[in-house]
Amino acid sequence: MTESGMVLAARELTKVYTRGSEAIRAVDGVSLTIRRGEFVAFMGPSGSGKTTLVNILGCLDNPTGGELDLAGRSIFGGGKSLGERDLTRVRRELFGYIFQNFYLIHTLTVRENVALPLAFYRKPGAEEEVERLLKLLGMEHRMDHLPGQISGGEMQRVAIARALVNRPEILLADEPTGNLDTRRSEEIGEILQELNRNAGLTIIMVSHNPDLARLGGRRIEMRDGQAYES
Ligand SMILES: Nc1ncnc2c1ncn2[C@@H]1O[C@H](COP(=O)(O)OP(=O)(O)O)[C@@H](O)[C@H]1O
Ligand SMILES: [Mg+2]
Repeated sequence: MTESGMVLAARELTKVYTRGSEAIRAVDGVSLTIRRGEFVAFMGPSGSGKTTLVNILGCLDNPTGGELDLAGRSIFGGGKSLGERDLTRVRRELFGYIFQNFYLIHTLTVRENVALPLAFYRKPGAEEEVERLLKLLGMEHRMDHLPGQISGGEMQRVAIARALVNRPEILLADEPTGNLDTRRSEEIGEILQELNRNAGLTIIMVSHNPDLARLGGRRIEMRDGQAYES
């Protein structure tokens, strides 16, 4: 974190895919900064580059050009990226991720899914933290259920708890309600807004749903790989 409160700075980020002789500019010169505690929603048509961009911002993908700083540290720049070991650390320490398809492990209980990110380095109080998060998300009555025994909205709550278990600074959410009905989407939206307001979590979200995108104080429209602030 820099003193200005800036947690993310991107300059002229570009991602070009080459398919035969064709170059696809999935992300085409995007510059933006995000301050700590902001809730930023990316909108825009399918194929406009939202997923590619937020994956780069979340260190899940490399840009082909441009620069990215996170928490005052250079991640990509001058054609170079941080090494894989450091990238893994940044992903684990700075980010929590949630996706449209939840990605729960179906043979593990709710409790075990949430504890999964803690499995590689034991921390004191881990079990209590898992229970605290599941209670916060209204899932205390489902802790020993398997994902197959709960609803889609509940699965996304579990995925959110898992994303928070390492106390990230930024939550990255790519179409978090893409598989949910209106009511469940609203509930997830309310949870995200509370986490942003009460816990000061920075949220970077992609959503087609205008009601959900409106929850963020800041909306960015993607078109043909370019970002437009509205
Ligand atoms: N791995 C890939 N290889 C080639 N083209 C890709 C790849 N991933 C995405 N694209 C292309 O990049 C563009 C942006 O895709 P994407 O970021 O998934 O958009 P969105 O999330 O807005 O739907 C699209 O034209 C898509 O076909
Ligand atoms: Mg997408």
